[in-house]
Order: sequence, then C-alpha cells, then structure tokens
Amino acid sequence: MPLVHLHFPTLLDGSSSCELPPRNVEFDVIFDPSETTLEEVATLFTSKVSRNTGASRTPWKVRHFVSSSSLFPPSPTLSPHIIRSPYIPPSPLPRLWKPDSMVSSILLPLLLNLPSPISIILDLGSGAGRDVCYLSESLLSSNPSVTVVGIDKHKGSARRSLPLWSKRGVSNNSSHELLDLKKLPLFDAYMASLPHPINCCYAVRYMNLPLFSHLSSNLPIGCVFALSHFVVDLDGTFNYDHPSISDVLKLGEMEGMFKCVEEGGDWKILRNDRVKDSDVGRTLINFVVRREVGKNMKEGKRKRDDQGGDHN
Ligand SMILES: C[S@@+](CC[C@H](N)C(=O)[O-])C[C@H]1O[C@@H](n2cnc3c(N)ncnc32)[C@H](O)[C@@H]1O
Repeated sequence: MPLVHLHFPTLLDGSSSCELPPRNVEFDVIFDPSETTLEEVATLFTSKVSRNTGASRTPWKVRHFVSSSSLFPPSPTLSPHIIRSPYIPPSPLPRLWKPDSMVSSILLPLLLNLPSPISIILDLGSGAGRDVCYLSESLLSSNPSVTVVGIDKHKGSARRSLPLWSKRGVSNNSSHELLDLKKLPLFDAYMASLPHPINCCYAVRYMNLPLFSHLSSNLPIGCVFALSHFVVDLDGTFNYDHPSISDVLKLGEMEGMFKCVEEGGDWKILRNDRVKDSDVGRTLINFVVRREVGKNMKEGKRKRDDQGGDHN
C-alpha cells in the first residue's frame, strides 16, 4: 500500500481531496497528534453524514488510526546531517486512487510509442482530473513539453483538478478548459486556438455522440481517439440503474462512426475490447483508433482515380 501525505487541517475544514481513495478501498490512517486529534480524524473518515450538506454518505474503510508519535518517537540521538539531507520525492508520487484502466493499460503505452513527439492530449469530460494527472505524470519524464488538457463544463471540475495537479507537480503540464462540449462551434474555436495539432483525444465515462461523430471527421491524421464507456450487453439490454440506457453505447456504434480504412473510412482500429467494471460488473467498451487517412489524401486519391479513369 503506498504512503500518501494528506493535509488534515484542510480536510477538517471541509475541503475534499482527490488523493483520497474510493470508499470501497481499505486503508490505514497515520495522523500527527500535534496537528490533529484521533477524535477529529476518526470523525472525518467514519461519519455517515456529510458535514457540508447533512446528507447521508458512505464512510471510508479505514482499518486503523495510528498516531505518528507511536511510529516515529522523537529521537535526540539523530545526527543533524541526516535531518538536513534533501528529500527526493519518488516519481511519480504514490497514489491511493487508480486511473482508468484503459488510460493506464492501453493509452499510455501507445502514447509512449508514438513516432512523433506528443504535444497536446485532450480529456473530454475530465471530472476530478485524475486521468489528466496520471498521463501528465507518466509522460513528463520522456516529454517535458507535453500538455494534457481536461475539458469539463462544471466549475467544480477545475476546483478539484487544479489542487491535485499542483500537489503532484504537474501544473505546468496540465490545464483545464471550462467548456460545454455540446456546443460544437465553441469546441471548434477552442481547437483552432491551440498552438499545435492535437495528438490524442479521449473520454472516460463521458458519452457525447454528436461530438464523437464530429471528431471522426475532423481530427488530424495520426491523432488517436480513445473511449472507455458503458455498452449494452450482447443481447442489446443494460440491466443496471446507472447510467440510463440513453447514456449507454449500442452494439457497433463506435465502429460505425470511426470507419476503418478497409471499409473505405479513415481510421485504424487499435483496440475494441469489452471489459467489466470493478464496481458492479457493468460492461465497458475500450475503443481506441488512430486516424490513418486525411481529408486531403482522400481528395488526392479521388482525383488520381478520376484521371486514371479518363486515360482508359
Ligand atoms: C461520469 S463523469 C466522468 C469523469 C471522468 N472522466 C472520470 O472518469 O472520472 C462525466 C463528466 O463529464 C462532464 N460533462 C457532462 N456533460 C458535459 C458537457 N456537455 N461538456 C463538458 N463536460 C461535460 C461532467 O461534468 C463530468 O465531470
């Protein structure tokens, strides 16, 4: 289990932290008794009522609360030069949360092996910014100029993401764009304002079919598009309370949109896997494609075909 430093006084003030693990994950809490009391910490993690809203909530699964003074008693014999030696944080920093599995197991290896250097990656519907953070941290050492942009229409997204990115040292490589992705002209204007063509665009548990269709025609050649989202079962049903069936992909919907080269389209399908989510076993599709053919190439080929036809 990784060891992650959280600032308790900030949490006790009612702020949330994106570093906290999901509520079904067991973990231990080590607290500094000079900073806070056992009672305060225990109330924070085990209360079944939200202090901010009064609504009922699931408490975290804390196994033990341990005072740091019992683990690290003050030692007068420590030599001063040990105390002064510089602390070099591990990179990437340990984390109690997990990025989306498609992002970590498919997208990251692909991005690390792209032939051209990566400059801009977009996360559509980025939420709390964890996948943005993960990719920034993971790509930074091989590519210091990479920028991962989280796009979301909710102000709370930036409010949660920015402190996480700052704490984990990726503020210079991560940015947030407050944008309603249902407004395609605004999205196009944003794309046109970017200093470089984008290399990758992905969405995790965010479905916006008009936008995806627009991207399938307009992303630049070489660009990767990836989606991890709920899909109906093979018999066409989706027997879960959440999300509603209107927010679930139908069978073959993404392949129909991102047509592959063999079928006269522009895309190469790199992955199209059905996987189960770790919560309740809903099926997700991990769909990853790369644009192989551009608009101009198609136009050139059409002209060449036409000219060839004239000669015969
Ligand atoms: C289910 S959450 C997923 C968040 C994140 N990708 C993740 O996997 O944790 C969907 C996100 O999409 C955002 N969203 C919904 N509609 C949007 C829209 N029209 N434009 C931009 N973001 C939107 C929501 O604010 C939310 O943060």
